[in-house]
Amino acid sequence: MLEAMIKAPVGDDVYDEDPTVHELESRVAELFGHEAALYCATGSLSNQLGIRMLVEPGEEVLCDVQAHIVRAEMGGHAAVGQVTTRTFSSPSGLAEADRIAELISVGGGPYHVTTAAVAIENTLNYAGGKIQPYENLVQISELCQRYGIKRHLDGARLWNAHIATGVPLVSYGALYDTISVCFSKGLGAPIGSVLVSSADTIARARIVRKRMGAGWRQAGILAAAALYALDNQLARLADDHGAARALAEEVAALAPTAVVPDDVQTNIVVLDTGDRDAGVVLDAAAEQQIRVSQLGPRTLRAVAHLDVDQAGCRAAGKILGALLA
Ligand SMILES: Cc1ncc(COP(=O)(O)O)c(C=O)c1O
Repeated sequence: MLEAMIKAPVGDDVYDEDPTVHELESRVAELFGHEAALYCATGSLSNQLGIRMLVEPGEEVLCDVQAHIVRAEMGGHAAVGQVTTRTFSSPSGLAEADRIAELISVGGGPYHVTTAAVAIENTLNYAGGKIQPYENLVQISELCQRYGIKRHLDGARLWNAHIATGVPLVSYGALYDTISVCFSKGLGAPIGSVLVSSADTIARARIVRKRMGAGWRQAGILAAAALYALDNQLARLADDHGAARALAEEVAALAPTAVVPDDVQTNIVVLDTGDRDAGVVLDAAAEQQIRVSQLGPRTLRAVAHLDVDQAGCRAAGKILGALLA
């Protein structure tokens, strides 16, 4: 990856002249069957840009109560984009058209906020990397089209859903007006996300990105890492899924109430710490070189990735299981 970065031909991306950025943008757009794409520094930025292209100030986007856009982007959609949010939820973390339909408000006259877009997160990070079933996504897309509502996909980990299900990227792409995908997570690039959409929308997003101070110059050095990741580190996500499952099995062997291994679908394992404070368990794990993150007072998140193999994940699972037993 480093070699690809060193050798990357570059230009000034603010002037839309970086050949490596162009290559990444056109490849990703094509993968999803869309016209254009915009390489961004972060997934939070590409989510914000995507949603702002679909939702006017004072309108709302509907999303899951656990969605990254509402929980973990520092209120950027509201603070910067002037967009309001309403949330749906289901115990399983799976988005369902019926629940979303209950929230939709179009033509609400001068009283109710207008629903302009629905945002789906796939896989759903805080639900433990849950894959949204494709049939649900089709139903949600049809629902949106019936009401004239736009569709955004936070596909930070769509790569994982694609590898786990075999659903082609282009089939996911057909269901959304804007899509954000990240290269800095399971794919293992040091930085970068891509917003995919129509040529028109991407041209508008490029202007807003610059307005936010997020135009960048010779970004091809970084885009080369994303291209390398796409070519060399996509198929191997299946290894992460196996390693996450192995970690969950080891935890469950010692602490059966902490996790159900069958619930692990991709690279994320959410652990229920029961009556233990998650922060205390996190600190105890860190003392044994196991780094997990805290999602809530009683939940932790472990993520399998390319720097830890299955044996390493099993070893980590044993330590976490002992702490939770
Ligand atoms: C589902 C999801 N969307 C978006 C993001 C934002 O990515 P970034 O950290 O690059 O802003 C993340 C980051 O963890 C994420 O998990």
